[in-house]
Amino acid sequence: MLKAVIFDLDGVIVSTDIYHYEAWKALTDRKGLEFNFEINDRLRGISRAESLQIILDVNQKTIGQREFNRIAGAKNRRYRRLLGKLKPEDMLPGVKDLIADLRQSGIKTAVGSSSRNTPKILKRLKLTKAFDAVVDGNAGLKSKPDPAIFLACAVALGEAPESCLVIEDAEAGIAAAKAAGMTALGVGKTPLSSADRMLASLLGENAAKLAAIHDAAKRTAKG
Ligand code: BG6
Ligand code: MG
Repeated sequence: MLKAVIFDLDGVIVSTDIYHYEAWKALTDRKGLEFNFEINDRLRGISRAESLQIILDVNQKTIGQREFNRIAGAKNRRYRRLLGKLKPEDMLPGVKDLIADLRQSGIKTAVGSSSRNTPKILKRLKLTKAFDAVVDGNAGLKSKPDPAIFLACAVALGEAPESCLVIEDAEAGIAAAKAAGMTALGVGKTPLSSADRMLASLLGENAAKLAAIHDAAKRTAKG
């Protein structure tokens, strides 16, 4: 039975893709490194440091630790300035109503994100108190696809992993959910091959529908 829903943040609650893109693009242009939307898509769900490593690998470039930290820090400062534009209306379609319906139905909610900027984003969206638990990149856990962030959410919520459904927009996040023993709902335009179910958006979703998705995924897993 579904007891808790764990939301990924970037790409599920709000789309920050373009801000990540703009911030990385400014830095990579300055450094003469190639960066485009296709590379940006590959960074979904991946931590900041791992993202920079992917960009360097694509460019077959090696740099020292100091320079690495300097670029990652400059990217984040620029990204945080862009996050200042976020407003509650930027929440993705259906998210606000879904959170409210889950609460009313007695299903617990959490945010499980690799982002260290989670507190700032939740504040901009006026969602700081909307969830029963938040576990993010500041927790010092291994990032997705490792299940650590989602397992920590289950512990914080006091629920067994098998009673949790994760909503994710990235392959790394779906893999993390499955590794945690949770059911995984993929959202967005990018097809996620390991998701138990894929939806274009959360518009019109509610607690009953998510419980049905969770139960169907469990039956398939047993079947
Ligand atoms: C994830 C994003 O939520 O957070 C990634 O999908 C990002 O693209 C990661 O790299 C880390 O974010 P931050 O805010 O800590 O740089
Ligand atoms: Mg995401």
